[in-house]
Amino acid sequence: MKITSAEFIKSAVDPSQYPDDLLPEVAFVGRSNVGKSSLINTLVNRRNLARTSNTPGRTQLVNFFVINGALSFVDLPGYGYAKVPLSVKKGWRGMIEGYLEGRQSLRLVVLILDIRREPSENDDMLIEWLCSKQISVVFVLTKSDKLSRSRVNMARREIGKHLAVPHDNLLPFSAKTRSGKDEIWRVIETTCFPRP
Ligand code: GTP
Ligand code: MG
Repeated sequence: MKITSAEFIKSAVDPSQYPDDLLPEVAFVGRSNVGKSSLINTLVNRRNLARTSNTPGRTQLVNFFVINGALSFVDLPGYGYAKVPLSVKKGWRGMIEGYLEGRQSLRLVVLILDIRREPSENDDMLIEWLCSKQISVVFVLTKSDKLSRSRVNMARREIGKHLAVPHDNLLPFSAKTRSGKDEIWRVIETTCFPRP
């Protein structure tokens, strides 16, 4: 996809603050610090459209972006970060669930996993929940620059086995080298703009 514009629209806590759901929407979810915001920036060729950080818990609200005036991206807070108070964790969980539960324009969830780690219990729970709601999911295995090519393939097989999903639904990616970007765009485009 050729990017002509990428704009931040707004941050929201609850659905009453969301922008109108007029455009097909893609949501980026995953544990804290996994690389959700970095993935968005790489997809739209921008260094800091979505704010990133070395410290987990950077994204604390539901952030909406519009790409090419035609597609909406949503950057969600991460889950599973141990070092925040329980009340904050519950707030983030509420925000993630509140968004995923009710958004009519949601077409695709990009679920981001660290290619070096086994999916966490939170990942497993979320995946099961998304399946039960019949929401389309594509899995991105990020930080692939941290592994050799043979290890990337091995990790892809192992994570595929853990999740019981077909190999080609797991896309290795690196925000550092940008490898995997085109494959992710292909999935986004075919899901959001299906050919009649
Ligand atoms: P929260 O908003 O806190 O949940 O984090 P996030 O999932 O949005 O992660 P973010 O994009 O802020 O990235 C977290 C850290 O991982 C940053 O230091 C990034 O530079 C680093 N990072 C993200 N993607 C990659 C990648 O593909 N390769 C490498 N080597 N580092 C990455
Ligand atoms: Mg973030």
